Amino acid sequence: MGKAFDIGLERLVGGGVGEPRNNEAARLADSPSAAGSGTFYLETFGCQMNEHDSEKVAGVLLARGYRQVESADAANVVLYNTCSIREKAAQKVFSRLGEYRLTQREGQTIGVLGCVAQQEGEKIFSRAPWVSLVCGSASYRKLPELLAQLEAGNRRVTGLDTDTDETFETEVTRRDNPWRAYLTIIEGCDKACSYCVVPFTRGPERSRTSASILEEVRQLADAGYTEVQLLGQTVNSYADPSARKMRFSELLVAVAEVPGIRRVRFTTSHPRDFGKDIVEAIEAVPAICEHVHLPVQSGSTKVLRGMARTYSREEYLEKIAMLRAAKREISLTTDLIVGFPGETEKDFQETLSLLDVAQYDGAFCFKYSPRPNTPSLKMADAIPEEEKSRRLAILLEKQREIQRARNEQLVGRELEVMVEGKSKKEFQWSGHTSSNKVMNFTSRAQESLGDYVQVKVMGATPNSLVGEKSETGS
Ligand code: 5AD
Ligand code: SF4
Repeated sequence: MGKAFDIGLERLVGGGVGEPRNNEAARLADSPSAAGSGTFYLETFGCQMNEHDSEKVAGVLLARGYRQVESADAANVVLYNTCSIREKAAQKVFSRLGEYRLTQREGQTIGVLGCVAQQEGEKIFSRAPWVSLVCGSASYRKLPELLAQLEAGNRRVTGLDTDTDETFETEVTRRDNPWRAYLTIIEGCDKACSYCVVPFTRGPERSRTSASILEEVRQLADAGYTEVQLLGQTVNSYADPSARKMRFSELLVAVAEVPGIRRVRFTTSHPRDFGKDIVEAIEAVPAICEHVHLPVQSGSTKVLRGMARTYSREEYLEKIAMLRAAKREISLTTDLIVGFPGETEKDFQETLSLLDVAQYDGAFCFKYSPRPNTPSLKMADAIPEEEKSRRLAILLEKQREIQRARNEQLVGRELEVMVEGKSKKEFQWSGHTSSNKVMNFTSRAQESLGDYVQVKVMGATPNSLVGEKSETGS
């Protein structure tokens, strides 16, 4: 959040940051409970869902009249949005809370949000008594109420329920990127993979109505956003709760058809619910980006069974074949875990051979990390840490070479890029292709950030493309 652009809220509500102008926001800001001169600092760890949750949490605070500041020292309220997906991330939390304590000023409120908040609950108050607010993501709807309690002088407040069928929607979202808007369409997860804390920390799957999603997309397009990214832990398990019963693939098309929207992305897809209709939607509608993130986790059916992933190696490879047979070239990325309990050298080799077949354009690779409450915690045959590290290094190296070769195949092609950054070096720009590749390119023109241009690929590395803006480019 530190790298924030200050444009999101202005664009959405037509006022300056901290000066909400839509009716609900104005009503809240004018209400007697509004903190008025309050300031908040919000630090975020973890996945894209957490980043976007933070944008919504910031929206809630702005609507109450708080102002966002760039350092914890300057804030009345310090909020820390946490991640517990792997042990390392969770370990950071208490050391960071210790740092906040050292700088805490008289009257300053410190709050813990997100997955560690949900996982540790009220225990956080005993380990870090200087904390006043503990709230998991399934309870964010209660945040205005919890903030009101704090403002009224309550010392400790919690939001820890996960048995909810509600999603967290805010009138005001403080978006950090002025062109790309993130939008949660489904929260929580019902999949129960045996290694994963998410079903505990984020609660059951809850989808937003298609009407509310499309209304927000229309508002975003009116505010100048051209790219929307639909988010969900299992985004393609989306189940419209309204009578309209829009399928996920229909929703993709409907979002892409909103005037002004040029790119629609979605993440993360679960292989079990990934059907041909999604591929057909990508084939039919150019605005739906040609990229699918489809975590496989392991190439061994035996390990996949232990992980409770609900598909075999062969079933997963069928999905890949379906994607590769599409009329548009679809780039494919994945998540992989090495060293799951009982993973033999043969199982690991199967993961390596799956990479050869799948030819991923990118992969997030992790060492298995035992997590509290998860079924795999008690599984036998733990893999030693050094062995996990060895397997991870081999996996990363192999994937790196695959990516290098795949990117090199793109040399000579012309691709559309959204201009997202300007380098310190003159005439150097960067952005993403529809296939979600990073493109660093040269252009002598004065490009405008947020524009779409045609770029010719001149070179490739494993993680990015190097290009030149085409003479014919827009
Ligand atoms: N250990 C290692 N990696 C994990 N992931 C989720 N839980 C664990 C765990 N306990 C990885 C999975 C998932 C990604 C978001 O994080 O690969 O897809
Ligand atoms: Fe975790 Fe599996 Fe749900 Fe993904 S699908 S969030 S890995 S339980």
